[in-house]
Amino acid sequence: MLIDAHCHLDDDQFADDLGAVLARAADAGVQTIITAGADVASSRAAVALAEKYDRVYAVVGVHPEHAATFDDAAANTIRALARHDKVVGIGEIGLDFYWQNNPPRAAQERALVAQMNLAQELDKPVVIHDRDAHDAIIEIIQRRGGKPRGILHCFSGDLDMARRAIDLGFCISFAGNLTFKNARQLQEIARALPLERIVIETDAPYLSPQRGARNEPANVARVAAKIAELKNIETSVVEQATTRNSQLLFGLS
Ligand code: NI
Repeated sequence: MLIDAHCHLDDDQFADDLGAVLARAADAGVQTIITAGADVASSRAAVALAEKYDRVYAVVGVHPEHAATFDDAAANTIRALARHDKVVGIGEIGLDFYWQNNPPRAAQERALVAQMNLAQELDKPVVIHDRDAHDAIIEIIQRRGGKPRGILHCFSGDLDMARRAIDLGFCISFAGNLTFKNARQLQEIARALPLERIVIETDAPYLSPQRGARNEPANVARVAAKIAELKNIETSVVEQATTRNSQLLFGLS
């Protein structure tokens, strides 16, 4: 049994054949799929999908790319959606400094902190997007204190950052890019981290193990297999551990 801890089932790329995509996931042993919102509209869509499909759960939030849209109305809608039975976390939220100051860093940080506060208030984990913002992410998590919990989705930092995040209460989430030939550094990190703090995801439709193709939740099995290969253990051990980790973190039974 597997859990895809992060993907985007509301993406247009799934509009025509989501039923078939979910059937292939079930055939691959994926028992639970967590689909993430990126703004108010996609958070609504994520909740609708979770209502429609048993094995789908949602996280809701405003992605840093859309930080400029995080006004009071957006905050209130995310708050209301977050109370839904099948919403298991707040995300994806975070910081994205790839495009320099666009959206402005201050706006990104404001949206991140407000949504982390909401997660704490509702006692839900956070799903963090971090692109070229490693130090700022760790600093914000550290500064807020308390007992934050969540995942660093599609992890892209170094081993030191991964260990600091784990010390602060986070799990590290690996995606299909772990299987890429040039992903040596990421593979070394996966090898070094304790299995109890690792979860797996696809980030589908993005980050296909086959570059350029559409990704889908069934492929999370390939991430588990890669971790097993790196750690030289049975794939079933990785599947059980990562499933348990996601269940504990997101409160799934
Ligand atoms: Ni994502």
